Amino acid sequence: MTTLLPDLTTTPYDVEAIRRDFAVLSREVNGRPLVYLDNASSTHKPRQVLDAERAFVEQHYSNVHRGVHTLSQEATAAYEAARATVAAFIGAQHDEVVFTKNVTESLNLVAYSLGNPGSPMTLGHGDEIVVTEMEHHSNLVPWQMLCERTGATLKWFGLTDDGRLDLADGVITERTKVVAFVHQSNLLGTVNPLPELVRMAKAVGALTVVDAAQSVPHMPIDVAALGVDLFAFTGHKMLGPTGVGVLWGRNELLSSLPPFMGGGSMIEVVEMAGSTYAPAPERFEAGTPAISQAIGLAAACDYLGAIGLDRIAAHEAALTATLLDGLRRISGVRVIGPDSMESRGSAVSFVVDGVHPHDVGQTLDEIGIAVRVGHHCAAPVCKRYGVPATTRASSYAYNTEAEIDTLLDGIEHVKRFWGVS
Ligand code: ALA
Repeated sequence: MTTLLPDLTTTPYDVEAIRRDFAVLSREVNGRPLVYLDNASSTHKPRQVLDAERAFVEQHYSNVHRGVHTLSQEATAAYEAARATVAAFIGAQHDEVVFTKNVTESLNLVAYSLGNPGSPMTLGHGDEIVVTEMEHHSNLVPWQMLCERTGATLKWFGLTDDGRLDLADGVITERTKVVAFVHQSNLLGTVNPLPELVRMAKAVGALTVVDAAQSVPHMPIDVAALGVDLFAFTGHKMLGPTGVGVLWGRNELLSSLPPFMGGGSMIEVVEMAGSTYAPAPERFEAGTPAISQAIGLAAACDYLGAIGLDRIAAHEAALTATLLDGLRRISGVRVIGPDSMESRGSAVSFVVDGVHPHDVGQTLDEIGIAVRVGHHCAAPVCKRYGVPATTRASSYAYNTEAEIDTLLDGIEHVKRFWGVS
């Protein structure tokens, strides 16, 4: 299953060459060329990812870890090779990578496991779990539910007016057992000070859990160097398929966590009175996994690696700077989140005075521009900044400066259409 990858590492960043791998980017929407700026929600897939999935399904597909026949062995080998590719992509060891459904399942896995019998940590009244006010619901609701189950207390770092974490004293205390935080905010674009948060958590012996759904696709990551304990991301925001996500955990920690879901493949010995469990990562992969999707995710890692994450980050930074600069020049537009390039990613949320974000999104769609509007599954962030919703433009490796200009012109069009100055 060989795929032709772009060899872009030694040439100038060639966005047009990248775009040719994404058929959808040459289609029209409402009679205009598609401008796809909803990448923080979900990205498109290059033909190399589609080809890898198709070749596997057409020639090698079978269930994994359960058969002696040739196809089953080939499928198992391909699935485990995908795990090795994903592990190498983030600087991890092979058996530290658990395939899940998405980042939401990865984070629920951790929150349930920590509260299950056999957990390396006991949680109860008096214990504290710390999150931040900029969490996506996936890294907030599971911790609220864990607190409900155990009697632990949820605390959080608030936000500053300019979209940063307020790392106030007294949030993390000797009672803190878990510090769970987003690496890069999906709504604000803020890149959080991970080393500082890890240092604060370690000082009190707390476990660190990182929602990396918006960082792994956009910057080089070496989990072993980060000093975190558990780290979660998803395939469909990094050019990969839907239905596959990843939980990374330090080897000895994963080995000590009890299972989240029971079923086939996660067991050693099953008797009517009880069962014993397989080692990690199989212990956390009950049932038939997302086999071809994992293979597609590995192809996405290869594709991103062939371009270079540092080059993608630099490309996105240039686009984001152009967007922020342009938004500053449009009267009645306010950025929600950092409006400088310091420690921020490519998701830019904004409001247009006098026009509801849903109307902004619909009017932009009428001229072919796809952005996301709403609370972006991070409702407390909107509440913190006193807005019901925002419009969010989020660029990726395949977006162009011309598309950012089209968006900026589109926002002027929205203002004219809705009669606001
Ligand atoms: N987390 C995704 C987003 O921000 C769904 O759009």
